[in-house]
Amino acid sequence: MFSRLFRRGKSGDEKNDAIPADASWSFIGADIHSHFVPGIDDGAKTIEDSIVLLKAMEAMGYKKIVTTPHVMSDFYPNSSLTILTGLKKIQDAARENNINLEISAAAEYYIDEYFTELMAKEPLLPIHKNEVLVEFSMLYEPPMLNSALFSMQTNGYKPIIAHPERYIFFHNKFERYRELRDRGCKLQLNLLSISGYYGRNIMEVAMRLLEKGMYDYCGSDMHHEKHAAALKAMLQTKAYSTLVNYPFLNSQLCF
Ligand SMILES: [Fe+2]
Repeated sequence: MFSRLFRRGKSGDEKNDAIPADASWSFIGADIHSHFVPGIDDGAKTIEDSIVLLKAMEAMGYKKIVTTPHVMSDFYPNSSLTILTGLKKIQDAARENNINLEISAAAEYYIDEYFTELMAKEPLLPIHKNEVLVEFSMLYEPPMLNSALFSMQTNGYKPIIAHPERYIFFHNKFERYRELRDRGCKLQLNLLSISGYYGRNIMEVAMRLLEKGMYDYCGSDMHHEKHAAALKAMLQTKAYSTLVNYPFLNSQLCF
């Protein structure tokens, strides 16, 4: 389905003049990965930042946002309380600024040695039904990864693995991606990976995963204005023409 882009080996950010000027991300409908709650992780710092980012999402055609602050015991010890309190703030600010987006919150849970403890403490915030977004170290495969994912499943959750293309230790072990899916995990592409934003290797792995139809969801993983600008610029590139035909599940969240 996507072989033309891959065969040419072109960079995903190459311009495509055939794309209409009003191209948007509206076909995605719901974004399921972002950092819009101010001051609780490495995303928006202030409510003003949140408003700028939410306006950018609306302008790019999104209808719904499930924002996902980091929950990471060392750096961002968030809980449902900090996240849902922050959610209320951005919902109010969005209303005051006439931003027409349906906004809810979940989290991006970091799998480490503290994760199962955290799961026992309070219910996890799901993206959709029982699906929960998780990430882990980008430098090495955490030894407890399989057991943590299994533990999530025995607790009734379905893991969505955030940006699998960014875990460099999987790049030469493509079978690990299949294994994760076989274990019942869903995979979420960071849209910017396809533009080359995180580097060529990550772009190539993302394209391969796309070509094999292994992604279930996509996400902006937006933290700041630079991400918003890069995502907007992508709308006029070959990468966009590739993505627009992919059957992401995101739009199902809008029904
Ligand atoms: Fe993220």
